[in-house]
Amino acid sequence: MSYRHLLAFFSLLAPALAQDGGQLYTLTCSACHGADGKGAANGTFPPLALSPYLAGEPDRAIKIVLHGLNGPVNVLGKTYNLEMPPQGAAMQDENIAAVLTYVRSAWGNTAGPVTADQVKKIRAATSSRSEHWTAPELLKLHPIQEIKPLTNLLSFTYTGNWTAAPDFAKLKPAAAEEEPTGRIALPKIKAPKGKDVSPPASGNLGMVWEGTLTLPTTGDYEFLFGADDGGSILLDGKLITQITGAGPLKGREKQVIIPASAGPHKFRAEYYDLLGLKALQIAWRQKSQKEWNFLTEETKSAAKVWPPIILKPTERPIIYRNFIEKTSPRAIGVGFPGEVNLAYSVDNLAPELIWTGAFIDAGHHWTDRGIGNEPPAGLKVVKLTTAPALDKAAKFRGYKLDPAGNPSFSVQFGELSLLDGYTTSTSSLIRSLKVSGKSSGSTVLTLVDGVAVTATGPDTFDVGGLVTLTAKSTKILDGKLVLPLVPGTTTEIRYLWK
Ligand code: HEC
Repeated sequence: MSYRHLLAFFSLLAPALAQDGGQLYTLTCSACHGADGKGAANGTFPPLALSPYLAGEPDRAIKIVLHGLNGPVNVLGKTYNLEMPPQGAAMQDENIAAVLTYVRSAWGNTAGPVTADQVKKIRAATSSRSEHWTAPELLKLHPIQEIKPLTNLLSFTYTGNWTAAPDFAKLKPAAAEEEPTGRIALPKIKAPKGKDVSPPASGNLGMVWEGTLTLPTTGDYEFLFGADDGGSILLDGKLITQITGAGPLKGREKQVIIPASAGPHKFRAEYYDLLGLKALQIAWRQKSQKEWNFLTEETKSAAKVWPPIILKPTERPIIYRNFIEKTSPRAIGVGFPGEVNLAYSVDNLAPELIWTGAFIDAGHHWTDRGIGNEPPAGLKVVKLTTAPALDKAAKFRGYKLDPAGNPSFSVQFGELSLLDGYTTSTSSLIRSLKVSGKSSGSTVLTLVDGVAVTATGPDTFDVGGLVTLTAKSTKILDGKLVLPLVPGTTTEIRYLWK
């Protein structure tokens, strides 16, 4: 007996043998679609688990079972070009209804039951059909409805100047919007291709989303949450997980498992950025499943292509507060007119990177919303230090811009205050270090550490063969160039590119 005959034979027996849709599935479909609905022969056959061909109105699926399917069909991103034999002659309306009711609710599928009457009507309407269906034919008649990640989704946007996570309950949203896509998305900064643009207005972004998350079955669910800088996710008003503080998305993700019941749940996500970088990822899956269902636009597999947006300071310096490669997470980039650039590390209280030429390609962070770090776009990059420049107890107190836009960074160490200001002239960065207050004992600031530094004249040093550094009162200690901090003094340090 051929395979097809055997199949028909089983199908004829089925009414007598099968008690329910599950048994009918085992008898009539599982040989090809697999006991687990994932496609037999290691996925050679297409899956029925989470297949959009089974979702929505049942007409499409009824037609496939009645007359079979032939030719290329794309299921969950993979194209099959096989043949499914018609089952209509061998299966009664009740059995087709029962098996489709079963597969439409098994393995995470969430479509409703199918009645024998529905099958009967379609059988009658297509009785003259003798050939298989093709996927394009079916999709034209019964388009696949995109399954929305969240329904009734609303977004609330907040703006402010925060140094810690904002308390959204105390804030008024600047905007509230319906999100018909059902997907959580951070606002995109649209930059005209190939044009130099100014950085986004200063200040921080906060967002809250509220919607309905419908879960297929009762059981354990895993949630994935990644945010730059932080936020929280709540299910039915209960906190599931949160990310606090500031830092990149990568490496700070949270993964939690919670039990949840089948059906709709209130879902809320809160997000804030503190350092100007914006990235957010939220996904869920049933504990046993491999694939994540992303609620955010950003997914792990997101394509990393973005148009370059080279920031070009013209009249005033540009401040860039996204992550910069080779420096600590909290770095403030400053691009000066005249192609002199600086990345000041807030974590290490030091001008860690200096370079000439182009400043930064912001395209990555502004269009892809910032996964990873951006390297300086220019040349002759010098990493001046690799560790904290001052005692660990010293604290960053913020920065100010003078009327021309030149920055000064404030640092406090006990009773000692440091104002660390930067301006430029041709091919050089000029740093002015003003020390005030009181010093307890001798305090030294590291100027160069981790790159070769040699004295080439009085108060003159070669740094890494790229830069000549001039400064009074400095000395080389254990291979580092250091400056003792004396209250009441201002020291000028020049970094001149060779
Ligand atoms: C002899 C193997 C075989 C049997 C038995 C079989 N199918 Fe299929 N089925 C296929 C193949 C092969 C395709 C893809 C056809 C193509 O490439 O055009 C398919 C496609 C489908 C599709 C659309 C694509 C997808 O993955 O969602 C559905 C729905 C489907 N089958 C349901 C069923 C149901 C329900 C049964 C049982 C009543 C069944 N099939 C029995 C082989 C089979």
